[in-house]
Amino acid sequence: MHISVIGCGYLGATHAACMAELGHHVLGMDADAGRVAALNQAQAPFFERGLDDLIAKHLATGKLRFTTSYADAAEFGDLHFLGVGTPQKPGDMAADLTHLEAAVRRLAVHLTRACVIAGKSTVPVGTAARLTEIFHELAPARDAVEVAWNPEFLRESHAIADTLSPDRLVLGFEDRHSFAEAALRNAYAPLINAGIPLIVTDLATAELVKTAANAFLATKISFINAMAEVCEATGADVHQLADALTRDPRIGALGMRPGLGFGGGCLPKDIRAFMARADELGVDQALTFLREVDAINTRRRSRIVQLAREQHGSTLSGARITIWGAAFKPRTDDIRESPALDVANLLHEAGAVVTVHDPMALDNARKAFPYLNYDDDPADATEGAELLLHLTEWDDYLDVDPERLRARVARPSVIDARGTLDPASWRRAGWTYRALGRP
Ligand code: UDX
Repeated sequence: MHISVIGCGYLGATHAACMAELGHHVLGMDADAGRVAALNQAQAPFFERGLDDLIAKHLATGKLRFTTSYADAAEFGDLHFLGVGTPQKPGDMAADLTHLEAAVRRLAVHLTRACVIAGKSTVPVGTAARLTEIFHELAPARDAVEVAWNPEFLRESHAIADTLSPDRLVLGFEDRHSFAEAALRNAYAPLINAGIPLIVTDLATAELVKTAANAFLATKISFINAMAEVCEATGADVHQLADALTRDPRIGALGMRPGLGFGGGCLPKDIRAFMARADELGVDQALTFLREVDAINTRRRSRIVQLAREQHGSTLSGARITIWGAAFKPRTDDIRESPALDVANLLHEAGAVVTVHDPMALDNARKAFPYLNYDDDPADATEGAELLLHLTEWDDYLDVDPERLRARVARPSVIDARGTLDPASWRRAGWTYRALGRP
């Protein structure tokens, strides 16, 4: 098939490369000329394992290229995926749909023949119906433009695998057995034939699957972090608690690691946008619990600052603190809504002299927070530190020898927010070790 992908950020660039891998001819479109130039040189605008190679592979096979032109995308594709970002509105909980709507308007005026639009962006329920109206109003092809919704569930650092072998495919249509359904079944034929579960539904349900999934994942994380608060008050160990709880298949083994909570470009903004939409729909009570989910999540960050104060034993003003981790999770350079950098900023505001290390996200962190100190070696970063905070659980930190590190710091004092360091070896090496949710 000839497929265009509108918006080549995390979602779009990955999707474009993966559609080429499935054998389609793909044109990725993005309004950012710098991003498009880089993509045409096989450089994604972010780090994702294997993605640059996959883009390079299909630039070479001729199945993939990138453009800044809506007219080219409209001319090229019979199926257009929308991967435009829907960030949180500044000063509001709702999703900001201005970029998505602007892209839709600019694409629509070039659509002169029958085609299918498949939305992938995470949107408030009802958006697909609204976008359908815009296409029918602005596109020269009018009703021959059919809108479908096909939410994306990819996790950063697993983006290619999650796209090529997802847990499920969700396809939403206004009408069953439509041209749109045939096109999407065709686009995903290799996945459907491989037995990936397929859920075909209406537009609103398809939109909701994504928001509901992210609300559930966020709730699971905040649940175990709420248990960590209780553990901290009782001397219990939340990591052992989680281990015991998740053996029950009804609870499930994944996505309930206690720690500093969730960040990133999806979960925080998606639960807020979901609450805002529920408010508009008059069902705000149904999602009141998400306020607590959000509050528990941000409370972990202030708890770390409180622990830092206790552990340091005096005012944080002038305290030399090293932070391990800047990315919102390991194996990515993404710092959006990073809990680690939020804590770094809180400590900086409290007067501490903060030095941050991260294996991959330092460039992004430096650009966003130029007033923090950075070091690209985890041990060097601790030189003269009075307190070490382990805030993003990179494997690199497991390789650092606490015995040797002790000689570098001013005080051997560590707080492990993610609970992945080995308390026994740090204590044996003479460190004062504390962790979130652990005695
Ligand atoms: C998430 C969803 O998983 C994905 O389905 C959706 O499409 C986009 O949002 P992502 O943000 O890439 O994906 O990361 P994920 O691995 O889900 O982690 C999100 C955050 O939760 C990270 O900050 C991570 O550190 C934290 N987390 C995750 C926990 O604190 N505990 C866990 O058990 C899992």
